[in-house]
Amino acid sequence: MRSDVTLHPLDRTLLAELLLAAVEDADPLEVMPPVEGPQGWTPERRSAFLRFHESRSLAANPVETTFAIAAAGRVVGAARLCPVETRAGTAEAGVWIGRSHRGAGVGGAVLELLLDRARAAGFTSVCVSTTPHNLAVRALMAGIGVELVRDGEELTACVDLRPGVR
Ligand SMILES: CC(C)(COP(=O)(O)OP(=O)(O)OC[C@H]1O[C@@H](n2cnc3c(N)ncnc32)[C@H](O)[C@@H]1OP(=O)(O)O)[C@@H](O)C(=O)NCCC(=O)NCCS
Repeated sequence: MRSDVTLHPLDRTLLAELLLAAVEDADPLEVMPPVEGPQGWTPERRSAFLRFHESRSLAANPVETTFAIAAAGRVVGAARLCPVETRAGTAEAGVWIGRSHRGAGVGGAVLELLLDRARAAGFTSVCVSTTPHNLAVRALMAGIGVELVRDGEELTACVDLRPGVR
């Protein structure tokens, strides 16, 4: 596993770096909900990216925990854990990594670090949803021996974090 990959709870300084990483190295649709208007990183979309994280992770009562992913000392993406309201002890996980850093082992390292963070926060299960064509997520789940189950148009995998299981 790559040892130069680390997770850092998002703050305003890291959020500014995260926006730069997203603008340089990702498509808006990979890293934030859709925003009306012309394609690309328009000023409106950059503001929406900041508002999205400010409202969800940096608010007085955050709805999720977001981590900036650093690789070799640079912010290269984000990972998040969002409690699932209807399933006590379960968090939904999400990750994006800048295109130029994909396929180099960052995602595998992030998965292990994110599961550690989830366990430390008291979650007993972490679920990931993706599309059938996301081969990287499928490989990541296969790598830790977790099955992806079809759920409508999506594939969902839940990692059991209870002691003795993982
Ligand atoms: C999914 C994502 C986080 C994976 O991160 P990554 O750094 O590319 O992953 P890694 O380099 O650690 O590779 C993990 C596994 O996927 C495989 N993989 C990576 N990219 C792949 C690709 N394009 N096609 C097929 N397999 C791929 C690797 O070979 C590796 O498999 P292995 O463990 O059997 O060797 C990253 O590709 C990404 O940010 N994608 C866009 C956003 C997204 O889809 N997020 C997931 C939503 S939950």
